[in-house]
Amino acid sequence: RPRVLSGIQPTADSFHLGNYLGALREWVVMQDDHDAFYCVVDLHAITVAQDPEVLRQRTRLSAAQLLAIGIDPDRSTLFVQSHVPEHAQLSWVLECLTGFGEAGRMTQFKDKSARQDADHVSVGLFTYPVLQAADILLYQADAVPVGEDQRQHLELTRNLAQRFNSRYGNTFTVPAAHIPKETAKIYDLQDPTSKMSKSVPAGVVELLEEPKRSAKKIRSAVTDLEREIRYDVDNKPGISNLLVIYSALTGRSIADLEAAYEGKGYGDLKKELGEVVVEFVTPFQRQVRAYLDDPAELDKVLHRGAERAREVSAETLRSVFDRVGFLRPM
Ligand code: TYM
Repeated sequence: RPRVLSGIQPTADSFHLGNYLGALREWVVMQDDHDAFYCVVDLHAITVAQDPEVLRQRTRLSAAQLLAIGIDPDRSTLFVQSHVPEHAQLSWVLECLTGFGEAGRMTQFKDKSARQDADHVSVGLFTYPVLQAADILLYQADAVPVGEDQRQHLELTRNLAQRFNSRYGNTFTVPAAHIPKETAKIYDLQDPTSKMSKSVPAGVVELLEEPKRSAKKIRSAVTDLEREIRYDVDNKPGISNLLVIYSALTGRSIADLEAAYEGKGYGDLKKELGEVVVEFVTPFQRQVRAYLDDPAELDKVLHRGAERAREVSAETLRSVFDRVGFLRPM
């Protein structure tokens, strides 16, 4: 079976609708016909300052959310990145193959670092995408389900895999990004031209917030001054975003929704989408609570996941070390 790997950062108290529709939903689907590895990337999280206790809680909470959306630990390998030391080890080797300029061209790094002065931007933030490449290449992943914002990091990963293979001989599978067509980029409800992300709470639907609050955020979503409910990203980004979310959560096509809302107002669309979201998050939240109520079981799942992840990653790392010319330890 083809392999799949993906990761998510434990840097917020809740995943948001963008994470779910852009990536996590695909994680669930792909475990049916892939050998799947999914990880909570705590090493990536500390590229910006984290409170240790909060990070620990969010890591558990992330795992609970992944189980609650339907990641099945009997079929998929669910683990925490720092439990598998091979990630940091391979990252070092790949860093030595990455050009300084190449890393400097990563737009996420440029965006994140532009907001702070140089001494507050860690070297870890700079090498972040190389660690991400290591995550993927260690498992010989064929496909990597992510949102649009990760496309450039996936391109770097492919380049590094090819570079290593041509310098040292065929070692890594060159992975393909698996980016959904309709939901690759979910937009902020308050600013429908920028992506939904953890930093702007009013425009972000958090899966673990009070469901009524989510419904209210949807009702207050920024739209336009027309009346027509029509998918048109350039002229009607707010309405288009709501239609995409609505379609993704219900399985109804956008054309079907446009027809159903013909002659109705934005208020109707927003109210009904709010209800759809409440129906989606309510059972999810119940599941998350159940997993959190049994931390010993959760830890056991993560322990098993890490053991399986180490089997695969240790094998890849051994062959990398051999090819690079490291002396084998006795
Ligand atoms: P992260 O933790 O920021 O986000 C997790 C996933 O959610 C997707 N996503 C979105 N998709 C659509 N619309 C949005 N508004 C939106 N916001 C977030 C992201 O594309 C991502 O797929 N660097 C990664 C984590 C990572 C990783 C990896 C991913 C580390 N190692 C290896 C894949 C493979 C990140 O920061 O994702």
